[in-house]
Amino acid sequence: MNSLIKRVIICLGFLLNQILFTNSDLFSSAFMAKNYHILDNNSLLFKEFIKNKFFCLQACLMDIQCYYAKYDKNECSLFTIEAKIDPISLSDKKIYQKIINELLDEDIGMLPIQNLFLENCSNMDVYWSLTTNSCLPCKTGFMKYSEYPNICYHNVSEWKSFDESKTYCESKDAFLLRPKTKKERIFFAQKFPNLRAFVDSKITSVGKKYKWPDGSYVFGFSFWQPDNWQPFKPRRWWILWENFLEILSNGNFNDVSINHKNELTICQHN
Ligand SMILES: *[C@@H]1O[C@H](CO)[C@@H](O)[C@H](O)[C@H]1NC(C)=O
Ligand SMILES: *[C@@H]1O[C@H](CO)[C@@H](O)[C@H](O)[C@H]1NC(C)=O
Ligand SMILES: *[C@@H]1O[C@H](CO)[C@@H](O)[C@H](O)[C@H]1NC(C)=O
Repeated sequence: MNSLIKRVIICLGFLLNQILFTNSDLFSSAFMAKNYHILDNNSLLFKEFIKNKFFCLQACLMDIQCYYAKYDKNECSLFTIEAKIDPISLSDKKIYQKIINELLDEDIGMLPIQNLFLENCSNMDVYWSLTTNSCLPCKTGFMKYSEYPNICYHNVSEWKSFDESKTYCESKDAFLLRPKTKKERIFFAQKFPNLRAFVDSKITSVGKKYKWPDGSYVFGFSFWQPDNWQPFKPRRWWILWENFLEILSNGNFNDVSINHKNELTICQHN
């Protein structure tokens, strides 16, 4: 590697560490350490190897849905508030529970983080706005499900391709559905029987892993998916044919091509 680039990377790493460690008090005021044991992974949002616990807590602070963070042997797992916990187990694994509403404004200003989610928009008509960091009323045409109190959703029945669905949501100042947890996938599958709708993930080369726009990996694929299935023969595995994701009526994901259309579009506004 070019030694200048190497130096820049080392410097950046150092700076970032400085920021994170000097803010460790802030992280400890944003989280409560608990000896909870998380009983299932249906509310798992994110699971990745992360070198540093503070990056893991930062990922939780930035995720609107994250409520618990677990850091164990460099593995960071984030869970929503729906996680089934056993509060009296003798597990010595620490779980960090996000404290909502308790950080002071001046603390927030010091955190190297945008889009902090620290409030709870439990009132029926408001959602958590990432642009203003506050609870705002749902936009016209959007609605809330009590199960997901911080997000407003919109659905429309018109045949659309991935790009058309995505553009449609953007025209509503929103984005395609991002159901990260199994609970959400099952929830939408039940809300919309015969569900088939695009979700906000695509890849640009063969073999790439599907990720959500925040960089976390998508999990919850249907059996044998994603398969980059091709309608022509012989199959040419090196050609990317299916590079968009949809959610199926079983709540699992499947990859589809640019030619594929779905009758349902669900947009999410948060
Ligand atoms: C969730 O748990 C099941 C069973 O405990 C396991 O097979 C699966 O790999 C887990 N999923 C993730 C994403 O960790
Ligand atoms: C949000 O507020 C409601 C009602 O005030 C409460 O029941 C719920 O536990 C709160 N959720 C969080 C994440 O604090
Ligand atoms: C879909 O949107 C319509 C309004 O546009 C709403 O009445 C309906 O309840 C939504 N469907 C579901 C399953 O949420």
